[in-house]
Parts: sequence; structure tokens; C-alpha cells
Amino acid sequence: MSGFGTRAVHAGSGHDAQTGAVIPAISLSTTFAQSAPSVPIGKYEYSRSDNPNRDGFETVVASLENAKYALGFASGSAAIAVILHTLTLGDHVVSVSDVYGGTHRYFTKVANHSGINVSFSGDLEKELPTLLNEKTKLVWIETPSNPTLSLTDISKIKSIIVDYQAKHPTQKISLVVDNTFLSPYIQTPLDHGADIVMHSVTKYLNGHSDVVMGVAATNDDAIAERLRFFQNAIGAIPSPFDSWLAHRGLKTLHLRVRQASNNANAIAKYLAASDKVLKVNYPGLENHPQRGIFLKQHNHGLGGGMISFRIKGGKEAASKFTSSTKIFTLAESLGGVESLLEVPSIMTHGGIPVAEREANGIFDDLIRLSCGIEDEEDLIADIKQALEAATN
Ligand SMILES: Cc1ncc(COP(=O)(O)O)c(C=O)c1O
Repeated sequence: MSGFGTRAVHAGSGHDAQTGAVIPAISLSTTFAQSAPSVPIGKYEYSRSDNPNRDGFETVVASLENAKYALGFASGSAAIAVILHTLTLGDHVVSVSDVYGGTHRYFTKVANHSGINVSFSGDLEKELPTLLNEKTKLVWIETPSNPTLSLTDISKIKSIIVDYQAKHPTQKISLVVDNTFLSPYIQTPLDHGADIVMHSVTKYLNGHSDVVMGVAATNDDAIAERLRFFQNAIGAIPSPFDSWLAHRGLKTLHLRVRQASNNANAIAKYLAASDKVLKVNYPGLENHPQRGIFLKQHNHGLGGGMISFRIKGGKEAASKFTSSTKIFTLAESLGGVESLLEVPSIMTHGGIPVAEREANGIFDDLIRLSCGIEDEEDLIADIKQALEAATN
């Protein structure tokens, strides 16, 4: 198999046979000609079911995630919804508690309408054996978690599921990993035992903050068939243009993620040494409490582009810091070429009750950074001046 960068550039991206174009055209046609009823001339029939641009995008994601199949969706949220739609009335899901707020919202305010029950756990490795029951169909992990960047050992969770299934051989439980925060350049969950890996493509995979899109990938034929059926039946699919843009973004994934991660590593070290900072959460730091999982699960020794830290001076200092940066833009989202920052307690995680949020380490003084691919010295200078402005 070729290296990651070669696959990112070439997978799903052959030359156009007719024109020789090196980059695929955007295929806007909604329908495709047939030579006889139900005998399409080529591979495609109707663009909701399949489309050349979505196909190219799905092919490269499958290659990068070491998967047989990948399926594109209109957003990361649509990918989550379709995965949950494959369950039926009375089914049970176990999820880590500090999942993305929108995933938590989907579990507790949408999936419950279809009779799906979700149990949350702050310590899945310890509690999963007691949370699994005869109705459990999915276990949902985000690693690193958002925004506190704690890690979950994917293969350990898988082994708990395998042990349970040995005693309940007719019950199939799928392990889903949301890999949005790292991208397949750093972590390939299917290699560690996950059954489905999903992404908000909106973040690192597209990487330029100009597409909202999602994807799910798997090696399991039955899961892929069921997801493909629901993808078409529900119709929450990405447009050809978004698929084309996201495919273009993927060609530089390895370069972007490496640079963002190197920047984040330098910034995390700078913050950890600062007397204006209470605590730094970054998987790449040697004193991260789950160093062993980092060493086992993260490729290339990279911690990713996301950091969170608690600033001294409470929520006033957090607010002042986020209004004082000149390169980091105060905005939600992450994973783009440009650096962003936010205060989770009042932005992305504002909907979670205070006690629950603080139990998960999301205090009012916590700031989340999405490090972009700008120059390291400029980003550190920006953090330095904002820390001074916020704490003086
Ligand atoms: C970890 C994670 N998963 C899923 C989503 C949902 O993706 P989207 O915004 O593309 O619907 C997000 C969005 O922020 C996210 O951060």
C-alpha cells in the first residue's frame, strides 16, 4: 500500500479518460442516461444514490481510514443521525459523556423520539461492562474528547465488547469512533477495533472552513450496506460541489495536520510553562494523564491541533483573552487552516447544565484553541500578548 500522502493525493482521483483533465470536473447532472430500462450506460443512475464527485471523495476517505467503504453525508450531524437511524425501537446506546454537544443533543432530544435509549459514562473503561445490556447495539466514543482532550483506549473498549458478545453470541454491538479531532493522519480507529469511524468533514478533512459535510467509514459489509441504504433513503447527502471541495482539501490533509499539530505542541508547551495558566489539556504533552494511550493510538507521535487550557482570573480573563488575540479568531468550529479559539462554557457547550459541565472539566475559565497552519512564532507571540492583556 502507498504512503498516506500518496493516497491522499491520488486515491479516487484518476485522469479524465476523455479530456485528460488531471482534476475531476464537477458533475452536476442529477440523472444519468440508461441504454434500456434500469440499465445505466455507466456506473451512475441518480445523483442522490451516487455521484462521481461523492464517489471520488468516498474512495479517498476509505483509503485513508484503512476502510473498505466510506459514505459521504450532508454534515457530520447527518452522519450521526443516519448511524442512529439504523437502530430500532428499544435499542440501547452507550456513549462517553463528553461527546460533541450536537451528538449529545441528538442522543437526548432526537434519538429518544424513536425509542432509542442512551447511557452516558465518564469512565467507559471501568463502567462499560455494567452498562451493556441485551438491547445495546452501539458504543460511541470520541477520542480525544471535546473540549478536555482526554483519551479513550479504543482496543480496550473493543475487548470489553468482544468479551460481552462471547456470552451473547447473537447480539451484534458496533463500536463507533468520532475521529473528527485527529483525522486519519493521526488516528485510524478501524485498526484498533472500531466498526465505524465517522467525521465532521467540516473540520480537518476539508480543512478550509468552507464546507459543511460528514462521512462514515467501515470494513463491515453488512454495516456498509445498511448505511448505504439509509444514506439513499434519507437523502442527507453532500452536493457535488461540496464533495469536490472536500476531496481537494483532503489532498493536503497530511501537510495541514502535521503543521497544525506541530504548532499546537509548541503552544501547549508555552502555555504549560506560563504562570498565567492553571492547567493545559493537550494529548501530546508528556504529562498528559493518558500518555500510554497516546503512544499506542496516535500515529507519528502527534497530539493534534486542538488544545484547551484554564486561564488564571476566571471567566473575565477568559473573555478578555479571547477578545485580545489578533491571529486566533474568536469563532466556533475547528480544523481549518486558520487558528480559532472559543470559550466552551458559553459557546459550544453552553447548553450543558453547569454541574454536568464542570464534572467534565469544562469550567468558565477554559479556553479551547484550534491551531491552524500559520507560523509557529506568530501564533506564540499572539498567545503571549493576549495572556498579558487578559491577566494584567
Ligand atoms: C467532534 C464532532 N463531531 C461531529 C460534529 C458535527 O458535525 P457538523 O457540524 O459537520 O454537522 C462536530 C461539529 O462541531 C464535532 O466537533
